[in-house]
Amino acid sequence: MATKLTPLKRSGKLEKNEWHPLSWNDFEVNQLPPYPDTEKLQDVYERLRALPPLITSWEIEALKEKLADVASGNGFLLQGGDCAETFDGCNAPKIVNHLKILLQMSFIMIHEMGTPVVRIGRIAGQYAKPRSKDTEVVDGVEMLNYRGDLINSFEPNAEARQPDPERMITAYNKAALTLNFLRALSDEGFADLQHPEQWELDFMKNNSYYKEYEEMVRSINKAVSFMDTITPNQFNTLHKVDMYTSHEALNLYYDSAQTKQVPRKSGWFNLSAHMVWLGNRTRGLDNAHVEYLSGIKNPIGIKVGPPFDRDDILRVIERLNPTHEAGKIVLITRFGVKEVEKDLPGLIRAVNREGFPVVWSCDPMHGNTFATSNNVKTRNFDDILDELRATFNIHRAEANYLGGVHLELTGDNVTECVGGANGLNESGLGRNYETYCDPRLNYEQGLEMAFLVAREWNASYKS
Ligand code: PEP
Ligand code: CO
Repeated sequence: MATKLTPLKRSGKLEKNEWHPLSWNDFEVNQLPPYPDTEKLQDVYERLRALPPLITSWEIEALKEKLADVASGNGFLLQGGDCAETFDGCNAPKIVNHLKILLQMSFIMIHEMGTPVVRIGRIAGQYAKPRSKDTEVVDGVEMLNYRGDLINSFEPNAEARQPDPERMITAYNKAALTLNFLRALSDEGFADLQHPEQWELDFMKNNSYYKEYEEMVRSINKAVSFMDTITPNQFNTLHKVDMYTSHEALNLYYDSAQTKQVPRKSGWFNLSAHMVWLGNRTRGLDNAHVEYLSGIKNPIGIKVGPPFDRDDILRVIERLNPTHEAGKIVLITRFGVKEVEKDLPGLIRAVNREGFPVVWSCDPMHGNTFATSNNVKTRNFDDILDELRATFNIHRAEANYLGGVHLELTGDNVTECVGGANGLNESGLGRNYETYCDPRLNYEQGLEMAFLVAREWNASYKS
């Protein structure tokens, strides 16, 4: 349902049609329920706007340069993390495990593919969720749906489900704490995280490619310790790991409050994350989310899945990147294993015909969600892999470069997706099912996926 929000008061005189961080407020807004208390909203907005940025404009520019390399076939993007980050999940073990799984997956890819890997977490701000329905009925009571900790509470009572602007301040604080720890770990904790004991491989033992896998991990560790021993100060990347953050730019109040100009640079930067993305449900050309994103300098992801109109996608890309800047747009396709053959080839041709320099990334998660007979939301590892494989094959057949994957995953041993080497089945899902939204790959499934992505990439592109 589209909702027209009550406009916030703005200061300063504005040209008609001029973009500014709140110009989206004149457009139709989807997936953002109105805050009941607009005065409180206004107050929170001002307080949030006054807080310091979480990241810097030069980090955003560095990421854009790396993505420009990926777009031209040099490098690979690994983007991953929770479907919905939670405030309670802002703790040391979860953050360490997130960094660990992304790092280890990236090592596998670098080692196997021989290409640089750009790591972007769905982290430090991924607190807002689009939902297919506005309300749900719990124990006979109708209430608003949970839309992520940034907006309302998961707790199933009508009061707790009301959108509360104060949550934006909590989200900012949690994002800052998360980022602070991530930065510290990336600076100093790297050697520890790549230590052989940190690789948990036993689950692969029954798998046909276990030997190959074990050999690869041994070889990664050998390479790292060799370089570390002989040239400890030259291989800076071994001591400092680049890790970028991203979230869906869904709660536009949160994102626009942190959208700022910086000294000696033109334009506006969303300083709450390095990259933000436009969801599959909010990408209407004339809607608020596209308006907001059209004015910021960050790299932007665009999710594309059914239902979609090819020309609309082209127009959105043009609107968000009229100068065809390389590294600006990451096109994240999420068609599902059943639709990908039908939908992807035409989109690749259309985008290339227009000469848009996008990074093509595959999200094999969101088109492959289903409910078990017990009504548990899950995904099958084989469907995920099959969509990925089909996506590689289609790009190769179109002589196009698939430069990234976008995964929902965690470094924890959850049981949310079925399948994979450890053979989790539907009856095992209840063991450790934690997600508040979509099912994620666990630590083992993530490592296995990295290995399989590298295989597919090599089959498509290794010369
Ligand atoms: C998501 O990435 O969690 C999400 C909601 O994706 P999409 O917009 O592709 O459905
Ligand atoms: Co999701």
